[in-house]
Amino acid sequence: MAGGYRYFETMEKHAGLLGVCIAIMVSLGGLAEITPLFVRARQVAPPANVKPYDALRLAGKDIYVREGCYLCHTQMIRALRAETERYGHYSVAEESVYDRPHQWGSKRTGPDLARVGGKYSDTWHRLHLMDPRQTEPESNMPGYPWLANETIDAADIVARMRALRQLGDPYTDADLAAAPASLKDKTALDALVAYLQGLGTTLSANGTLPNVMTKAAP
Ligand code: HEC
Repeated sequence: MAGGYRYFETMEKHAGLLGVCIAIMVSLGGLAEITPLFVRARQVAPPANVKPYDALRLAGKDIYVREGCYLCHTQMIRALRAETERYGHYSVAEESVYDRPHQWGSKRTGPDLARVGGKYSDTWHRLHLMDPRQTEPESNMPGYPWLANETIDAADIVARMRALRQLGDPYTDADLAAAPASLKDKTALDALVAYLQGLGTTLSANGTLPNVMTKAAP
């Protein structure tokens, strides 16, 4: 017993040593939490109905990332009643398998967008993205009017699809061949709207999501 106290005393009297011991203990806690997640990440396989982004949505996703939409919007509905009542079913890992990088985010100045697909019409999105004050008078979201005049470089998107295929996304040769035609005459605004309209629709549309926590409170 007395020996034990001596070790404590040594530790408490040497701030450096105490710091090192704290760092070791905190790291152990971190490892215990994070390691299982890494293992699970490898086990998450895309269900059959979750497909990689088609060319137009892929272009839209890149614009979403480029414009920094994630700085104000998350795409991660947490499994908390307040969230599921407002946004719908909580997000599941399978929905993000083709998001590189994922857009979960951590900052909500605006609402979560994980299930915004189908909530509004394309026209609403266009007006809102051009100038959010047109649809939401008190919005502090910036407008992105230049997207309407920006064309999409089809060769660039095909190259991206090819790179994603290298990483394991199941694009077929037919997908790559069809991409340029599907991007013809499309603007960056078209692509971004297509991307937004697809968000959160894959699993829920097929009824794959367990029907829990979305029901209204009795
Ligand atoms: C400075 C923070 C900010 C940035 C950056 C931002 N937004 Fe927003 N967004 C908001 C706020 C606040 C709202 C809520 C008011 C409104 O609808 O305009 C909103 C609302 C939205 C909505 C409607 C969501 C709903 O469920 O009603 C969509 C869609 C959206 N933003 C998309 C985008 C996209 C796409 C980008 C990037 C091109 C973007 N936002 C960038 C703050 C931001």
